[in-house]
Formats: sequence, C-alpha cells, structure tokens
Amino acid sequence: MTESLLIKPFRTSARGVAQVPGSKSITNRALILAALAEGETLLTGALFSRDTKILIQALRTLGFVIVDDEVAGTIRIQGNAGNIPVKEGSLHVGNAGTAARFLTAFLALSHQGKYAMDGDVAMRARPMSGLLNSLASSKTLAYTAEGKPAQAFPFVLQTSGQLKDLTVDASASSQLLSALLMVLPQRAGATVKMSGETVSEPFVVMTERMCAQFGRPLSRDAEGRWFCANPGAYISPQVYAIEPDATAASYFIALPAVTGQGSCVRLQGYQPKGLQGDTAFAEVAKLYGAEIDYQGDSARVRSWHNLRGGDFDFNQFSDTFLTLAALAPLADKPTIIRNIAHTRKQETDRLLAMATELNRLGVKVEPSPQALQADASLSSLTIYPSRDALLKTAQRGPTSIHTYEDHRMAMSFGILGSYDLLGDGTPWIKIEDPGCTGKTFPRFFQALEALRSSFVSIAIDGGAASGKSSTARAVAQHLGLMHVDTGAHYRTLTVGLLDAKATPSNLASVEKALAQFKLDSVLSGFSSRCVLNGKIASEAEIRSPEVNAHVSAFAALPAVRNYILNYQRSQVELARDAGFAGLIMEGRDIGSVVLPNATLRIFLEADAEARRLRRSTEGQADSIAQRDLLDSTRAAAPLICPTGAVRIDNTKLSLAEVVQEVERLIAPALAVS
Ligand code: DC
Repeated sequence: MTESLLIKPFRTSARGVAQVPGSKSITNRALILAALAEGETLLTGALFSRDTKILIQALRTLGFVIVDDEVAGTIRIQGNAGNIPVKEGSLHVGNAGTAARFLTAFLALSHQGKYAMDGDVAMRARPMSGLLNSLASSKTLAYTAEGKPAQAFPFVLQTSGQLKDLTVDASASSQLLSALLMVLPQRAGATVKMSGETVSEPFVVMTERMCAQFGRPLSRDAEGRWFCANPGAYISPQVYAIEPDATAASYFIALPAVTGQGSCVRLQGYQPKGLQGDTAFAEVAKLYGAEIDYQGDSARVRSWHNLRGGDFDFNQFSDTFLTLAALAPLADKPTIIRNIAHTRKQETDRLLAMATELNRLGVKVEPSPQALQADASLSSLTIYPSRDALLKTAQRGPTSIHTYEDHRMAMSFGILGSYDLLGDGTPWIKIEDPGCTGKTFPRFFQALEALRSSFVSIAIDGGAASGKSSTARAVAQHLGLMHVDTGAHYRTLTVGLLDAKATPSNLASVEKALAQFKLDSVLSGFSSRCVLNGKIASEAEIRSPEVNAHVSAFAALPAVRNYILNYQRSQVELARDAGFAGLIMEGRDIGSVVLPNATLRIFLEADAEARRLRRSTEGQADSIAQRDLLDSTRAAAPLICPTGAVRIDNTKLSLAEVVQEVERLIAPALAVS
C-alpha cells in the first residue's frame, strides 16, 4: 500500500501567486538544443523533476558539462556544436517519454556509436517504433538482447551518424516527430516527412518555434517535408527563459472554481500565446465559467461565477482534459470531452483511469469503465454532474482515489478535493501515491497549500545599503508577494523635481512641481514600479549621482512625504487586486508611518563599512553616511527602528541567510489555521 494524502477542502478563498514550475516540454527541448549548440546556454525558470533530471543525467553520461541549481531554477549547459562526446554507454530513461524519444534521435547523430538503452516497465510499453523504424532507413539500428530488430525499449542502438530522407509514423506520439525535427538542422540535406497524421500538433509547432529560437528555423517543402535551409550547430541564445508549465497552470486556473468568493490566483509569466498549446485550456476554462484576465505577461484568475458544462474537443491540448474532467461533477450540466484517444497510451490509460475514479466518487460517466476496457478505440467521455451523488459517497468517509502512477490524476483530483463539498471543511478525497506528482510538479501539494494563505503586509526599514531591496525582492519571489521599493518612489519624484528645476530650499518650487505630478503604478514581475506622468524613470536615471545627492533633502520635506503617503498606502489594494498573497514594502518609515499595522515589521542594519562596500561593489557613487544622517535626523518621518519591529543585523550574514531569516519570521503569518 502506498502512502496517501487527505485533501483539506478550502474553507476560504484561494489567494496568492501559484508557484508553477517551468514547462517540462520546453525544459527538455531546450536541454537538447543547448547541448547541440555552439557555446554555453543558461536556462532560467527550468523545471527540476524526475523527467528533466533523467535527461540531464543522460546528457552528463554522454559527456556534456551541465551545472544545475535547483533552488535558482537554472541549468548551465556547455554545448558541443552537434557532437556527442561519448560513443558507447548505457542510458536509462525511466518512464520519461520526452527523454526516451529525444535522446534516441539525438544519439543518431553519433558517428559509429553504441548505446544500451532501457526504461521502466511502463516505458517499455510506450510507442517507440515510429522513431526506430525511421532511423533504420539512415542505418541507425535498434536491436533487442537477442539481436532482433527492436520496436520498443530495451534495445541497443547502433548509430551511423547519418540522417537522410526520413519518414516517420508519429501517429502514436508527436514526440517521435519532434525528436527528429530537433536533430534535422545538424545534417545538411536531411529531411523528415510524416507518414499519416500526428497527435498533438501544438507540440510540433513548439519544436519548430524553439529550433528557430536557437537559430535554425525549419521549413516545409511542397510535399510537407521538413528541412533546414541553413543547417549547422544550433546558435546559443546565451540565456533562455523557460515559460511556466501551462498544463500545471491549468490546476490553478481551475482552483478558483471550487474555492470561496474573493479567490484570486496569480500565474506569473503565464502567456496566452506562449509556446505551449496547453495555454488553450485558459480559453476552454473561460467558456466553462472561469474569470481570467491578463496583466502584462501574467494571468489573474478570480472566483468563477459558475461551472457551465458543454461539449469540448481536447485533442490539441489533451494533457489538460483531466483538469476539466475533475471539475465536471460540479457543473450545471453534462460535460463531453472528445478526441482524446491518444491519452489512452500515456502514463496510464487516462480515459479509463478518469472514468474509473469519477465512478468511484459516485459520478455517472459514459462510456462506463467496463465499456472502455472492452473497446480500446473509444475516445470521448461524458460526465454527468451530481452533487447529491458526490455527497452520498462522501458521507461514507473520504474516497481513496487511485492515481495509476499518473501525476495528472493526482493533481486533478487534488483540485476537486479542495472543494468544500460537505460545507464544514471535512475532507472527502484522499489521493493515493501523491508523490507521483514528482514527474512534473514535485511541490504541487505545497503550492496548493500556499494559496490557502491570508493577505500579509511586511514592512522592511533600514538605512542605505542595508540590504532592504535585495532581501525584499527575493522574499517576494519566493512567497508570492508584491514588492514595493519606496526609495524608488522618492527617487522618481526627485528626477521629476530636478527636471522641473525645483530645489529643496525653495518650497514654493517643490509645491508647484508636485501640483503637476500624477503617480501611477505598473507591475513588472513581482515588483510594482512607480510611473510619474506616464513615464517610468530608468534605473540609471533614479540612481544617478545627481539623484543620490538630492533625494534625502527632498524626502525630508513634509510636502513631499504627504504627497506620496496615500500613493504608498494604495499599493496594498494594488497587490490584493493583482492576486498577490501580500506585499513587502521597504523604505525608511514603512513600519512607523506608511504601514504601522503591518503583519510583520523588520528593521535591517549593517555596520557602515559593510554598507559602503556593498554600494561600491554595485559600482555606485553614493555618500551613504551623509544620506543616513539626513534621513535619521529629519523632523518628518525619520529613519528609526519602530517599536515592536524585529531588528536584524546583517553585517556578517549572506543575502541567502537574511532571506531565510525573514521568511522564517513571515511563515506563521502566511499559514492559516
Ligand atoms: O532606499 P533608497 O536608498 O533608494 O532611498 C533613497 C532615499 O529616499 C533615502 O535616502 C531617503 C528616502 N526615503 C525615505 O525618506 N523614506 C522611505 N520610506 C524610503 C526612502
């Protein structure tokens, strides 16, 4: 018996930034392309999961130099310009479909190589023959242990290094085609043609778009053959930002359908027209009742007003069908999910698994699990909603949902279980083997839990170069808070005041200029940026020596402070509306004046020498001591450590240590009892 997890229904709204990992499909493609590139590539926002780790490990076994940092989400990979350093070896691909297919085609580039390839039992049953047959025409052959031609794992791959006119049957998986498309530009004159159709066309488009991002765009001739007009090693983009996983994001689009009014979940970096076909789920969800809007490159999902059943074709974004299917029992009418035959050959027979588990909860589905078992060609599912049926089952105690080693089963039912069906917070769904989410989303249940948080406001004060901004920025990103740098507010005003020829000693000139100012905010990543009269001053402008020399004198004026106070307080609402779990505001008077009732107030300090060193390392000419003196001796809102604030002396601490300490202090406030 595997371990199981009881899902605690949300009794409140869900709020905060969903901590969605990077896309698996993009991470694994980027690893292959970067390995085949000339030069080094830094992948940011990468996914670290079983599947990507398998590919990273395999590439290392093949002689590639890869430095990964799981905490930072980065992978630094040294490309080898299309060459594979190790010519003989053994690789185990686990149950990772992308690694299995991508590596097989990748190895075909190796001149006279010999590789023993194996996978988990489940992987041995997954489609490979289309790819192996295709490579055979270019004399890259796969043999079984008995020396017969192999059609699936395990096999020994004997490679020729050539790629000629390939034809691939990718009807069982688009990865069979994508694998070949990625190696295509490495051999002049190579072409790939598909026999028949492939499933999941969007993944092929993703591959094409990524080949182009790495400098080798593919084209198709009149007969539909892919070729690269400008073949050669890929060109490293140097830094490549991986989009958050659109399939993983689907669970957090779904969550506000089942949690309380006032729910607002933010999906940082979620792009409706990104590389991933599964972003189409957002459109289906909207038809189903989701409230989604976009702010910059991010999405905001608020409480759904209703769940409208309907008829949906999931062929092109089938990984997300389970997300919708798990909401369907709560909809107002039946939900039909069509064209998902290929999902019957994925981690498990997903159609059958979904039907079986919905049935277990008392939900009627058509075809029935028995019918699905008898007929492998069935490709749709109709789900009949019934809260009564769910309630009847729930009254007998929590239902244990089988997950069939399928991460998507675990996550989809995790969302359904978040619904407070019994109205008193009693759990009614138990997920078996919750660890199976490790395939793409190891921290899924923690990410779900984090959205149970209540809104927090954190004030950080301290002198110049005391580490406020770096600390606040890192904490904001880790905990899904909006970051506000009030020093930047005063600096922006100073730029405007200097432009208007105002001087601190001439109050009338300051007041006249302020009367012409209009302040707004825009979100940039996790930070709110100050907009003055429609313009965002650049970092260089607000940190110029001239601004450094004048900002404290302007900031000492009550007229300036009064002018900006309400604007600063309004950031709380901005953070709430944008779906952040809270805000972290830093400055000189945040805990004392701007947010005296903040959930947590922190005062950072470091000795003068340490702070001077930090500024000079940043290459800034700034007379810190002089500014501190002005800031702490002025009459209006001087820099002080407010009573009750937590003092942290970080002279001898690294940034990571300070961040850890601040997060430890915030943790109890974020957790809801
Ligand atoms: O944090 P910083 O060094 O960017 O701030 C620039 C100046 O702005 C600082 O010397 C004083 C002023 N300031 C302030 O008076 N009150 C705040 N809350 C933040 C900054």
